[in-house]
Amino acid sequence: MKISNIGIIGCGTIAKEIAPLLKITRGIKITALCDTNISRVKYLQKEFKKAILYEDYMEMIKNQKLDGVYVAVPHFLHYPVLKNLIMNKIDIFVEKPITTEISHAIELSKLAKTYGVKIAVNYQYRYDKALNQLMESSTSGELGKIYFGRCLIPWKREESYSSKTSWHQNYEMSGGGILITQGSHLLDMLLKLFNSDIKKIEGVSKKMQFLQVEVEDFSGFTLTFKNGSVLQFISTMAVAKEEPIVVDIYGENGTAHYKAKFFSKVHFIKGNIKKHRLLIRGLHPTHRSIKGFRNWIQGGSPHLCTINDAIPVLKVIQKIYKETLD
Ligand SMILES: NC(=O)c1ccc[n+]([C@@H]2O[C@H](COP(=O)([O-])OP(=O)(O)OC[C@H]3O[C@@H](n4cnc5c(N)ncnc54)[C@H](O)[C@@H]3O)[C@@H](O)[C@H]2O)c1
Repeated sequence: MKISNIGIIGCGTIAKEIAPLLKITRGIKITALCDTNISRVKYLQKEFKKAILYEDYMEMIKNQKLDGVYVAVPHFLHYPVLKNLIMNKIDIFVEKPITTEISHAIELSKLAKTYGVKIAVNYQYRYDKALNQLMESSTSGELGKIYFGRCLIPWKREESYSSKTSWHQNYEMSGGGILITQGSHLLDMLLKLFNSDIKKIEGVSKKMQFLQVEVEDFSGFTLTFKNGSVLQFISTMAVAKEEPIVVDIYGENGTAHYKAKFFSKVHFIKGNIKKHRLLIRGLHPTHRSIKGFRNWIQGGSPHLCTINDAIPVLKVIQKIYKETLD
């Protein structure tokens, strides 16, 4: 199998989590690691013993022959880092959200087209098998016309969650709180499912538990779409105990119930349901997302979330903040 040399920029929390999956992905070799905090690079070197270490990513891309880079830096740095990578013609696998500003995302998309650079965004729920089944059944009419849906994401976080990485607390650096950071995964999918422009946004995004932090820890809203369907959505870390994500979709011919914690499942009530399988195999949605990037840069079909696919959710999030921030 062809081998792609990949570098990592940002060796923090998620890079550490994803490292074992990168390591077991055939066709990918992590050859360089970069973080401005050298202790984090050294920690990650335990996984990738032969990788060359850097504190400056510009130096890394100048000195290493890389086929791609995995970018996991704070949100406000996605724009400048991606811009530099594009101009050096390096394919990119970037963590969500694509950027904090919609104008930046659009600029990067145009630039990537000009330079012929592939950008995949790690919205890994696009690679969740049960959610894929729910999406395909809903969008191909197996549930009939979709009347309404609801989504609840009750993810517990301790106070230390935002204090240990201070950028999480700050609107300018993170682009928002729970909605852009966690809720955006499911909102990304559900906007695709409802597939209609938004007519009305009602709700509230506010600090409920972590009052000293700048960004919201609760975002709850109802979206009314121009096609008449309605989505109720709550993303929150203000809960005593973490519980699974729940999505319910109600159509004229059937209903879908989806639940996700470590594993996800979907079950249907009525409807003319067919089996829809993701073509890509892997241990976990994130593993399949990595493989999706690898296949794309090695000449296969595009990742399920290209930069252009990641722009609509950012646009809607910015509208939701405008309408609902307390
Ligand atoms: N897909 C997911 O499920 C998921 C989960 C968690 C986080 N994330 C995303 O991953 C990204 C990083 O989040 P995190 O929680 O790991 O943050 P983090 O703060 O733990 O890690 C970010 C790292 O980037 C480093 N860094 C900052 N500036 C840098 C620079 N100029 N060059 C190189 N390194 C630099 C920091 O020192 C830090 O080690 C965010 O986009 C976040 O939303 C995704």
